[in-house]
Amino acid sequence: MEEIIIKKIDTSKFTTSENYTTSKWTIADALKVHIDDPTTTMPVIDYNFPVMDNSILGWDAGALRDIHGYTTTFKGWFVMWQLVVNKIDLTNKNIYNEWLNRNNSAYIGYWYSKDGLNWTFGGRLLNKSADLEPWEWSGSLVMREGTENTLDMFYTSVGPNPAVSIPSVSTGQIFADDTKVWFEGFTTTTNMFQADGIHEDNVEENPYWNFRDPHPFMNPVDGKIYCLYEGDVAGVRGEFTITDSEIGHVPPGYQVGSGAQYGAAAIGIARLESDYTKGDFSKWTQLDPLVTALGVNSQLERPHVVFKDDLTYIFSISHNSTYVGSSTGPDGVYGFVSRNGIFGPYEPMNSSGLVLGNPSTAPLETYSHFVAPDLSVQSFINYLPAAGTTDPYNPTTYRIGGTLAPTVRLTLEESSSFLTEVHEYGQIFSDKEWVKK
Ligand code: FRU
Repeated sequence: MEEIIIKKIDTSKFTTSENYTTSKWTIADALKVHIDDPTTTMPVIDYNFPVMDNSILGWDAGALRDIHGYTTTFKGWFVMWQLVVNKIDLTNKNIYNEWLNRNNSAYIGYWYSKDGLNWTFGGRLLNKSADLEPWEWSGSLVMREGTENTLDMFYTSVGPNPAVSIPSVSTGQIFADDTKVWFEGFTTTTNMFQADGIHEDNVEENPYWNFRDPHPFMNPVDGKIYCLYEGDVAGVRGEFTITDSEIGHVPPGYQVGSGAQYGAAAIGIARLESDYTKGDFSKWTQLDPLVTALGVNSQLERPHVVFKDDLTYIFSISHNSTYVGSSTGPDGVYGFVSRNGIFGPYEPMNSSGLVLGNPSTAPLETYSHFVAPDLSVQSFINYLPAAGTTDPYNPTTYRIGGTLAPTVRLTLEESSSFLTEVHEYGQIFSDKEWVKK
C-alpha cells in the first residue's frame, strides 16, 4: 500500500461552476480512434477464463472506496459491489438468453476477499425494502467520511412501467470479523435528482433516454460533493442540428454520416446542496454537462473521475454499436482530461478519446471498465469468441462471461495513456485501510 501524497497545486486559473462551458467530443476527434493500437487495446482473453461463481452472472463492478475515490479496505478485507443476476440454469444451456435479459432482474450483490484476488460472494447488498423500483443498476459504494462504518450505495433505481431511471442512494453499515464481511441497514432509498429536460433530456424528449450511474466525489478544489452521471443532451431525440462545433476540424468535403443527430450522449454533473455529514443526499443542483458527444455517440456510461496532480481525468464507457453517423470505434473506456479542474475544458485523451478498446478479433470481449486512482482498470467479460473464429460476432461461437476480466493498468502522461500492466482476473488493489477521520 503506497502512501497517498496529495501535491499542493495552483488552482487560481481553474474554472468554476459559474464560468465553465460544456466541452465537446467532436466527430473529428473520433476520426482519430485507432482500433488495435497496442497502447489502447485490451489483451485477448483466454477462452478458458475462470468464473468467479457459477451460481450468478455478474457485470458492472466497483471496489469499496472513499469519497475522494481511493479504494479502501475495511478491517483488512477488500470489498466490491457488482450488478448480478442469479442463474436459473446452472448447466449454462440457457446462458445466452439469461445474459441477454439480465438488465430486467439486476440486483447489487457484494463480494469480499482477503487478498483482492480470491472472492467470496455475499449475496444481496440492499434489502428488498429499499427498492422503490424493481431493478438496481450501476453506481458507487462509498464509505462516509467521519464515520466508523457507515457507507452509501449510490445506484440507479430502474423500472419498466412507466419507464423510470433515477440516481438514488441507500445507506447502511459495514461489519467484518476474521471470517466474513456483512452489512446492516440498506432498508430505504432516497431519490437524488430527476432528469429535468433542461440539463439533460428526459423520457418525454427521448424514449431511449439515458439517466443513470451516479458517481459522487469530493472536488479537491472547493471541498464540495458533486456527482457525475450518464445523461444525454437536452432536446428532442433526432431533432438536433450537428453544427461545425460538433463536427470539429475535418478535411475538405467531409460529409457527416446520416443518423448523426441520433447520438447525443452527455456526462452530467450535479452538486450536493444538503448536508453530507448528516447523510442527507436529498438536495442537488444539476449543472450543464461537462462533456457531450452530440453527433458522435449516444452513450457515455458510468462516468468517473481520477484526480492526478493538477490534471482531472474523466473516464466513461461506450460501445461500438452506439456510435452514430460515420463515426466508429471499439467497445471500451474513453477518457477526457482537464488542466483546469473538474469544470474543464476537457480534451479527449490520446486525441481521439479512446483509452482502452476491445481488440478487433474479440470486439465484445470486455465492457464496463472502471479506472481507479492507482490506474488499475477493472472490467467484466462479455462475449468471447473462440480463438480463430472468422466471425467474432457469431453468437454460436461465443463463450458468455458474466465474470470479471483480467485487471490491467495504465500509465498516464498528460493527455496520453498507455496500457502497461496485465494482472489477474478480478484483481483489485487497495490504496488505504478505512479509518475514521
Ligand atoms: C453499463 C450499464 C450501465 C447500467 C448497467 C445496467 O454496462 O449499461 O450504464 O447502469 O450497465 O446493467
